[in-house]
Amino acid sequence: MRVLGIETSCDDTGVAIYDSGAGLLGHRLFSQTRLHAEYGGVVPELASRDHIRKVLPLVREVMTACATGATDLDGVAYTAGPGLAGALLVGAAIGQSLAWAWRVPAVAIHHMEGHLLAPMLEDDPPAFPFLALLVSGGHTLIAEIRALGDYTILGESVDDAVGEAFDKTAKLLGLGYPGGPAIARAALMGVRDRFRFPRPMTDRPGLDFSFSGLKTAALLAVQQHPLDQQRVADIALAFQEAAVDTLVIKCERALARTGQRQLIVAGGVGANQHLRARLGGLAASLGIRVFFPRPDFCTDNGAMIAYAGYMRLAAGQHNGPDFGARPRWSLDELVPVA
Ligand code: KG4
Ligand code: ZN
Repeated sequence: MRVLGIETSCDDTGVAIYDSGAGLLGHRLFSQTRLHAEYGGVVPELASRDHIRKVLPLVREVMTACATGATDLDGVAYTAGPGLAGALLVGAAIGQSLAWAWRVPAVAIHHMEGHLLAPMLEDDPPAFPFLALLVSGGHTLIAEIRALGDYTILGESVDDAVGEAFDKTAKLLGLGYPGGPAIARAALMGVRDRFRFPRPMTDRPGLDFSFSGLKTAALLAVQQHPLDQQRVADIALAFQEAAVDTLVIKCERALARTGQRQLIVAGGVGANQHLRARLGGLAASLGIRVFFPRPDFCTDNGAMIAYAGYMRLAAGQHNGPDFGARPRWSLDELVPVA
């Protein structure tokens, strides 16, 4: 089975082809980062218009690169939500139209499920069941993943997502957008313990997160000290350490509570090297395994959508145009696939 995947939920246009026999055949990504950089964040209307410009040329490019004609495809998967309404509509309309024209099924994919399944694209993938830490610009959650569509959220952020906290803190520090990679880069030059920020909600039981207080702590540090390059690096380091510590503490707690022996990390913040190293250390100390997608598949991409589409099409699912785009769509609403 060969599936075309289309991702347009936010500011990246991603297209990929996954083949059940040969694996991932190819993928392309067009990042709109430069388009939005001057505004310090994603401008939804600009994002939608750019997806319209980019999707079909990328589809053509990937199909040519993968020597795949329309008759070689068995289905089209697209991100149906959650995300920006206009951006999602572009992917949904084009995905449904291509499937209709090619007379193959279309399948609507939940963006977070795509992230969750991304580690399956790597060599030596995890097998169900496992625990997942999902950390992106829009979501921070820990979930137990039992099978395709069988997910239980054990904890999530009560306010900002961790990626959002990285982005807002980077903005405070004048580091630009997107903030995650910028904070990580600046932190390399930081001196430890010049600042110390709280590890929110780690002093009470439970698996929920809160990151708005951490962002406020960074704001206070910025207001109380004149900023030079060194101080920016020191604050970036202290912020990164606090955010990563918080995530690691909750993962350890969730592993203990569920008894799961495999942890997967997904979403853009999963590209963070400090987080990867710390979770690697935790896994070694507990004798469990941790799985990361390659950094390019932590952030938004078409490959994870093509793969999730393949899994669902293989299980017999498809969706008509009436499915629409779902800007708000909780992972909890998915049901186990028979
Ligand atoms: O998964 P993603 O590409 O898009 C969403 O679905 O939200 O995640 C984007 C988020 C942004 O907040 C970005 O700052 C963060 O992931 N990010 C990072 C790193 N690379 C991307 N955060 C920390 N360290 C990184 N290296
Ligand atoms: Zn994402």
